[in-house]
Amino acid sequence: MDNRSIHGMWSSRLAFILAATGSAVGLGNIWRFPYMASDNGGGAFVLVYLGCVALVALPILFAELAIGRRGRRSPINTLLDLAREDRSSRGWAGVGWLGLVAGVFILSFYSVVAGWTLHYAWLYLMQLFGGTGIVDPAATFGELLSNPVEMIAWHGVFMVMTVAVVALGVEKGLERSVKLLMPALLLMLLVLLGYGVSTGHLGEAATFLFQPDFSKITPGVVLSAMGQAFFSLSLGMCGMMTYGAYLPRDVSIPRVGAAVALADTGIALLAGLAIFPIVIQFLGTPTGGGPGLIFTSLPSAFNQMGAVFGLLFFVLLAVAAWTSSISLLEPASAYLVERGWGRRRAAIAMATLCWALGLFSALGFNVLSDIRPLGQDSILDAINLVANDILLPVGGLLIALYAGWRFDRQRLREQMHGAPAALFSVWTWLLRVVAPLAVLAVLAVKLHDALQRL
Ligand code: PHE
Repeated sequence: MDNRSIHGMWSSRLAFILAATGSAVGLGNIWRFPYMASDNGGGAFVLVYLGCVALVALPILFAELAIGRRGRRSPINTLLDLAREDRSSRGWAGVGWLGLVAGVFILSFYSVVAGWTLHYAWLYLMQLFGGTGIVDPAATFGELLSNPVEMIAWHGVFMVMTVAVVALGVEKGLERSVKLLMPALLLMLLVLLGYGVSTGHLGEAATFLFQPDFSKITPGVVLSAMGQAFFSLSLGMCGMMTYGAYLPRDVSIPRVGAAVALADTGIALLAGLAIFPIVIQFLGTPTGGGPGLIFTSLPSAFNQMGAVFGLLFFVLLAVAAWTSSISLLEPASAYLVERGWGRRRAAIAMATLCWALGLFSALGFNVLSDIRPLGQDSILDAINLVANDILLPVGGLLIALYAGWRFDRQRLREQMHGAPAALFSVWTWLLRVVAPLAVLAVLAVKLHDALQRL
């Protein structure tokens, strides 16, 4: 198969690492990880999370990259091509379709939440120029949720930012933007971490995050950790497969894959180490933030720290979300390009679809707040549940099974050049047995929970 993808190629190993880390590091790391750790017993959650990354997520990440690079096209067509080559069933292309649907669903609500971060960044910016800022954080968040026009507008702004990158293509859009945004993201995170250290509460935060209390490890904690590992590493929706399709042949997948997983995990932990000292300093305790940790708890801290920190934090969050959302839009856009669409038109069409779908999530907090699908608190939560708890794990499971059992062994070995033989066998067993069983167990319990809530 081709050495190059028709969509373009990452110009270097570093470009790929930045792009894939950009996809992985997002709201999942800075918004979700700290509050999930906080709600699930701190160190116990972190420990289980690390286990899930190493034993389940990392092997699937390698698999997505290897499949993508072998096929060089968007996931659906890559899987069709491979099926033809390996004489496996064309049905495997269904994994690509599943990924496409998952990507569209996730982007629809991801962009709504990213829109909140833009709104907050805007409020802090205005405060620097004399605006009132966020006096009563709970009220501000409540007002935003109850105002459909405002929320939909910011959701639209974020979607336009996403299309602007994807429409420019792999080299001029995706690669150029991550080369600029990822260093900026790291810098902003380090400034916040510096502030966290200056509060003198870093030790307590570290104890909270790293000291495991084994009595707190329950099946629920394991489930949340595994779901979080999938979401955080952008797995199961073929986004990494798409990024793998643009990966030059000589780059070692085990090495760059490990680098991306390490960077993603490291940044989640750093985000925790930046946020918890601030939370402890101003709010007393690191536990029980919930999803509102970022949008209601932190702003009361920023009121005392100064608007600059609020601005910095929400710009950081928006940037992280931005480099992730482009990876949510790229696979579907690439597919349309392969069907003969121009790239710009393809990106705009898919983004419009995601934006329109996102209206349900946005309106779910106000006009449609009586609709609570699947026993969830809001439409956004319900779409989140279907995408993260069902589509991503099912996608990941099928990818593991495909790579482990159907993908031609010789070709798989070629794609994994750079992996010592022993590592390669361990990896195939993780893909064949460990990862599928783990995901199945999680799915079974999640479905059981979901059905009980109905
Ligand atoms: N990994 C991203 C995050 O942590 C979310 C994401 C999921 C992006 C799936 C792409 C695909 O925020």
